[in-house]
Amino acid sequence: MTKSFYITTPIYYVNAKPHLGHAYTTIAADTAARFHSMKGEDVYFLTGTDEHGDKIVKAAAKENQTASEYADKISKLFSDLWPGLSISNDDFIRTTEDRHKRVVNYILQKLFDAGEIYYSEYEGLYCFGCEQFYNERDLVDGKCPDHKEEPAVIKESNYFFKMSKYQEWLIDHIKSNPDFIRPERYKNEVLAFLREPLEDLCISRPKTRLEWGIPLPFDDKYVTYVWFDALVNYISALGYPDDPKFEKYWAASNHIVAKDIIKPHGIYWPTMLKAAGIPMYKSLNVHGYWNVSDAKMSKSLGNVIDPMHMKDVYGVDAFRFFLMREMSFGLDSSFSEDAMINRINSDLANDLGNLVSRVVTMCHKYFDGIVPDGRDEDLNPKSDFNLRVSAEKAVAEYEESMEKFAFHKGLASAWEFISHMNKYVDASAPWDLAKHDSTKGALKKVIYNLLEGLRITAGLIYPVMPSCSAILNDHLGLGSEENYFHLENLKKWGVLEPGQKIMKSIRLFPRIEKEVKEEEPVDMPVKLDPPLKPDITIDDFMKVDFRVATVLSAEPVPKAQKLLKLEIDMGEKRTIVAGVSQAYTPEELIGKQVIIVANLKPAKLMGITSQGMMLASISNDGSSVITLDRPVKPGAQVK
Ligand code: MSP
Repeated sequence: MTKSFYITTPIYYVNAKPHLGHAYTTIAADTAARFHSMKGEDVYFLTGTDEHGDKIVKAAAKENQTASEYADKISKLFSDLWPGLSISNDDFIRTTEDRHKRVVNYILQKLFDAGEIYYSEYEGLYCFGCEQFYNERDLVDGKCPDHKEEPAVIKESNYFFKMSKYQEWLIDHIKSNPDFIRPERYKNEVLAFLREPLEDLCISRPKTRLEWGIPLPFDDKYVTYVWFDALVNYISALGYPDDPKFEKYWAASNHIVAKDIIKPHGIYWPTMLKAAGIPMYKSLNVHGYWNVSDAKMSKSLGNVIDPMHMKDVYGVDAFRFFLMREMSFGLDSSFSEDAMINRINSDLANDLGNLVSRVVTMCHKYFDGIVPDGRDEDLNPKSDFNLRVSAEKAVAEYEESMEKFAFHKGLASAWEFISHMNKYVDASAPWDLAKHDSTKGALKKVIYNLLEGLRITAGLIYPVMPSCSAILNDHLGLGSEENYFHLENLKKWGVLEPGQKIMKSIRLFPRIEKEVKEEEPVDMPVKLDPPLKPDITIDDFMKVDFRVATVLSAEPVPKAQKLLKLEIDMGEKRTIVAGVSQAYTPEELIGKQVIIVANLKPAKLMGITSQGMMLASISNDGSSVITLDRPVKPGAQVK
């Protein structure tokens, strides 16, 4: 019977637009899904949106919309994003769908009937941001660790799930199933939580406080706590309890989440399953956080990365590759376009792109684009560059890493093989072999081996770069071949048929030229809005002397792409150099009243001493100079 593989992402809150973090998790899940389909498994891939709770109500209110309208709008942003990122999900679940609510009700009733849920009065510390009660010991300086606000003391009657009684069972289950929570550090984190006594879980919210939720089937004055609703998506999407999909996929279930939601997934969810008599999920795979310029991505810092924009600028395969290769699964990583450009240039344009174009070009030059018959027992003319052995090693290591969700390692193994092939080209020097009749046999072998290596490479990159993999296969004449990327086929050598036609070369990944910096940061292209800087005191601020100035004349600075030299009247005449020539012609600036940092140490830019700095907003939309609302005497102070 075909083995099943079920993979899920968290269902994302619909209180904000999708960003880099959501894209990473979903691409990681897609990579795992595609890798398992390469193994011939029957894969089912689920993602979706989490739509109930206070967060959503608040976000909707800000936009003057009902929670339902708002949830529809944002959920669509997620479902529309995924095809653009080559996500191959089989299903997209929304917690507002009836098929989901039905299963939540079923489980709640089942637990209630079994005496696993009880009603009680409770006084606790409640964080409205997290929508959850906290223990004193979980707070940092008395505040919620996420929202940095003191929780409110709330006293109310609620329903509780008897989570505490499963503590010992859970510890035992985690310890005796090494792959249940991985990587290891997160398993240890959950075990560390479990060293403290586990409390029962409050699973209801009174409707007087929150309407936007699934009503409890046994008391409609309450709605279900968001996590008790959301976690159930993993089985409601499979049609639990009686859809054959549940039977088929649940035993092979693998969740991917980031470290932020390890507690609900590592503690609430397994205990809920246990209490409801549902078999455990197979593995929880936890990854780290993407930061931007070493700060947490957040709307208020203005450093949120839009995955659609990245894909449009760099291409979907390159973006996916960067994310999967750069982040060690499990650890935090820092995102920057600079790092992405470096990786694209070195790994994709240089290592892979050049290899493909060299090999295909040589096959055309020496064999008219026909795969030469270089299959031979003695497969490599240079035994220390035995490509077959190196391919076998790469595929084996790749499989082992991909199986454990260590995508970065899997790709590193593939690139070791690519680098080996590049060295093989140089060491076997086909251009020399082509010079003499006596070495034509060796030339056939070398080109055959390299083409065969490319076939294997096309397979190895498939889970992360499906389009590029298909292009490469097309080139090798394998495009329509069924299962060309099947892992078993990558373990074989000599699969390419001699006589097959190879298409002419194309450039898979052109190099990305970085913008050249001229001199000072004032003239640098700004790609991303940098995070907000740490607080300063009023005294720090008062040190800066802002003045109004009138621009008297403006002219371009020779040889500089973005600089203008301005003469200004600031009560006294000064010269300044400003990096705004891409946004303004000199004429447009003349006569404008602008704001100058007047006490900045003079700096030389392209040989001109700039005696101050003009304020402007600089972003992806270009530069916009800060001007005054009504005329003011030049030199007037700005406070
Ligand atoms: N709705 C809950 C999940 C319920 S699952 C039953 C939720 N939603 S969320 O929109 O906040 O998504 C959190 C998830 O988004 C993280 O676990 C991770 O998968 C992804 N990421 C969000 N920000 C991230 C980073 N900065 N870096 C990496 N992934 C992050 O929690």
